[in-house]
Amino acid sequence: MTARCPVSHVATEPSNAGLRVVRRSALRTGLAIFGDPFRALETLPAHGDVIVTSLFGQPTVLLAHPTPVAEMLREGRGTWIKDRLSRRTADVFGRGLLLSEGEEWRRQRRLLNPGFANARFDAYAHTMRARTAAAMAKWPVHGTLDAAAEMARLTLDVAVRTLFGADIADRDAHRVAEAFAAVSDFVASPIGMLPIDVPRWLPLPVVRRHRRAIAELDAVVGALIRARRGSNAPGEDLLAMLLAARDETGGLSDAEVRDQAVTFLLAGHETTALGLTFALFELGRRPDLKARLFAETDATPADAGHEAFPFATAVFEESLRLYPPAFALSRENVHDVVLAGVPMAKGTLVVAPPWTLHRDPRWFADPMVFRPERWCAPEPEAPPLGAYLPFGLGPRKCIGSRFAMLEAVLLLTGIARSHDWTSLDEALPPLQPAITCRPKGPVRLAVRARQPLT
Ligand code: HEM
Repeated sequence: MTARCPVSHVATEPSNAGLRVVRRSALRTGLAIFGDPFRALETLPAHGDVIVTSLFGQPTVLLAHPTPVAEMLREGRGTWIKDRLSRRTADVFGRGLLLSEGEEWRRQRRLLNPGFANARFDAYAHTMRARTAAAMAKWPVHGTLDAAAEMARLTLDVAVRTLFGADIADRDAHRVAEAFAAVSDFVASPIGMLPIDVPRWLPLPVVRRHRRAIAELDAVVGALIRARRGSNAPGEDLLAMLLAARDETGGLSDAEVRDQAVTFLLAGHETTALGLTFALFELGRRPDLKARLFAETDATPADAGHEAFPFATAVFEESLRLYPPAFALSRENVHDVVLAGVPMAKGTLVVAPPWTLHRDPRWFADPMVFRPERWCAPEPEAPPLGAYLPFGLGPRKCIGSRFAMLEAVLLLTGIARSHDWTSLDEALPPLQPAITCRPKGPVRLAVRARQPLT
């Protein structure tokens, strides 16, 4: 049976899994994605559940339904690998957990899991509270600031200190921050967005800056690793865990430790910073929600665990729903496969966009409304598997999700304890589609200290 799709005016056909499958020309897809990518992602379900098309000459499938998304991401037999868009960042992340595959990935995940086990979280929480207090002491008693820049600085500071402990000098922490800014700019630049390996010797300023940034990261991180290997104080941070990780094949080499450290630094701070920025923006236009956050924060001791802050947790979950920082996950199949009843030739680029799924009224009531209450008792919404995936799903789900939730709640409540804020703009600046969705301009807040700072 074939039906007319009202939006794209092409035939849609139900797959044998009951999904609406639609074929679209490369041109239409390209125009939509390069015109306004976030709008294009949001309107995908109006076209179909599975959109078969082509991008940059590569067969491409866009998934706008949770069933095939969950099926693909949960598959553990090695059919799906990270695609070439994800692999563009291989010169930064090296063969760290984010981009490694197969047996190498399995070994790394096994070695790294203990660093994200419960036992370590008290030490991480202590660092997170201390760094938030230090940042708050620098916020003006009364003034304006850019939430995006502030959150990027604070989460990078937390990432650097939880990874390297007290070892890192302020000057080196600053070098790491500068290098990351350059890498992120490169990835978000038109050159960095190309789905091909751009020769790194090209004499373009953005490429040169990117190359210098990687050399800088290698220098700082390499020196820290060598210093720690030579010291007899193992420390309690993530670096200590990386250096101590062992299995029957031995431990991680210096190059492997470098790749994991850089992966944790980048994967771990920018995403959390964005989630917090969007949360601050939304709360800054909704006094009712902010009042509820203040009430929860004021009634709870500062050193309480993050479970003591259910509303702050719901605020962050809602921020990750409406603005998922990892807005599009993607894979490539290593052999021909049938997904959701749709045959896909080897080498197809398959995109599973949380941005689309999180804004679909089929899975979330009033999806465009920022409503943290949807995550709270007594009746939290329960989207189907694959419809809410800010941290991904299946074996490659974010290893740092619990770390991120802990950090977000402690930072948000630490800020709320110290300052009140109002959003100065009605809307967010346009977002830049890179690995994450970064605002292209400042997210301006008017801030005021809630109590005299001591
Ligand atoms: C709000 C914050 C965060 C968000 C939204 C986020 C999102 C994600 C997503 C969606 C994935 C899966 C990617 C895919 O399937 O292609 C992922 C993987 C990963 N994340 Fe996170 N992440 C966050 C925080 C963190 C933190 C704090 C760390 C480390 C300290 C971290 C480290 C990683 C690593 C290493 C992977 C790769 C895991 C693997 O492939 O086995 N992330 N993250």
